[in-house]
Amino acid sequence: MNMTIEQAGRMLADAVSYTDERRLHDALTLLRRQAPVHLVQAPEYDPFYAVTRHADIMAIERDHTLWLNEPRPILGKAAFEKLAREQAAQGIALKTLVHMDDPQHRVIRAIGADWFRPKAMRDLEGRVQELARRYVDRMAEFGGECDFATQVAVHYPLYVILSLLGLPESDFPRMLKLTQELFGGADAETRRGESAEDQFAVLLDFFAYFQDLTAARRAHPTEDLASAIANARVDGEPLSDIDTASYYVIIASAGHDTTSSTVAGGLHALIEHPAQLARLREDPGLLPLAVDEMIRWVTPVKEFMRTASADTILHDVPIKKGESVLLSYPSANRDEEVFTDPFAFDIGRDPNRHLAFGFGVHYCLGAALAKMELKALFAELLPRLESVELAGEPEWTATTFVGGIKHLPIRYKLR
Ligand code: HEM
Repeated sequence: MNMTIEQAGRMLADAVSYTDERRLHDALTLLRRQAPVHLVQAPEYDPFYAVTRHADIMAIERDHTLWLNEPRPILGKAAFEKLAREQAAQGIALKTLVHMDDPQHRVIRAIGADWFRPKAMRDLEGRVQELARRYVDRMAEFGGECDFATQVAVHYPLYVILSLLGLPESDFPRMLKLTQELFGGADAETRRGESAEDQFAVLLDFFAYFQDLTAARRAHPTEDLASAIANARVDGEPLSDIDTASYYVIIASAGHDTTSSTVAGGLHALIEHPAQLARLREDPGLLPLAVDEMIRWVTPVKEFMRTASADTILHDVPIKKGESVLLSYPSANRDEEVFTDPFAFDIGRDPNRHLAFGFGVHYCLGAALAKMELKALFAELLPRLESVELAGEPEWTATTFVGGIKHLPIRYKLR
């Protein structure tokens, strides 16, 4: 490995390093072994400690009174974080579940939680299967070649989440563009513009759309998640416009690129590991385990951050109140201390204690939904797929936050 620990650490603050997974994992392996809590000082970023071991990430997430999501829940360039702080001080910034700590977090999370429980999932299953069938049928229409990432993987999860929210299908293309602009912020192909102002303009567009939705659902409540959010009361009061809009934004955005990256990355992993694909075809009962392995393999959420609410010590490294740590989920999910042969893609891996959905009080609200979507798509696709191969080089999103394969050219035969 021809890199120093400092170089390895700085890769975590460089969106482009996530487009080369082999090199990224070399860096993460080095950090796990030699500097599991490492101070990163990268140009354009405020300093942070990179935490790369599975056990340390779990311990931090478990201790949610010491380690807070506010004021720095995700990594951004210093200019962007500064603007976000200023906007928060003026009460005009996005404040979603990931920006909150208890007691507020618990109360606000409870508003949406019922919509992600097993009963709600069972009610939604038919719609998800229908969408899965629609997208596999569409693959048949493409005539044996497509960019699976842009033509299938990107659409399907967004349409599932928008169905859950209860939005009309005619609005789906607009939401697709906005969520991509929001999450693909660092990638030249998807971002609206380079500046922090451009990124905030995307948020403002989201807000405008969802403000109208709130008004409509308050006037005429319907049986969907959007109505539950619009009509929720905390201490007898409805949520403010900004809190309502923030809720929609977190659902629409968190439920989208995460799952679509895993759909594309999951198929890519099966193509790259034909023995595993054959094994899954022979024994479809392995699909639930295979889905978890795809999620571990892809780990579409690259990081969340926590900030110390008191002075503390992590692996002999003193961390002061107000300093931040970056939890590297891709690193946790290749940790040799936890996974046997972590760099092997094994669709029968059991147990699979990956941290792709995080851990503790912020554990992904949509984890059961994401798994259901992945199962539905592969349950529909695999029995109909006679053959599949790469038809070009895949490409990865440049992002330090959420992403994965953004282009996956494939050639295939469908029954
Ligand atoms: C939070 C991953 C799909 C909604 C999170 C977190 C991670 C994550 C790592 C932060 C957890 C933490 O801080 O400990 C993923 C992955 C997905 C996925 C890997 C797909 C494979 C979804 C879907 C939804 C969703 C489909 C549906 C709406 C949320 C929400 C939160 C969240 C609302 C915030 C929870 C909180 O702060 O209390 N997700 N997610 N996610 N996710 Fe997901």
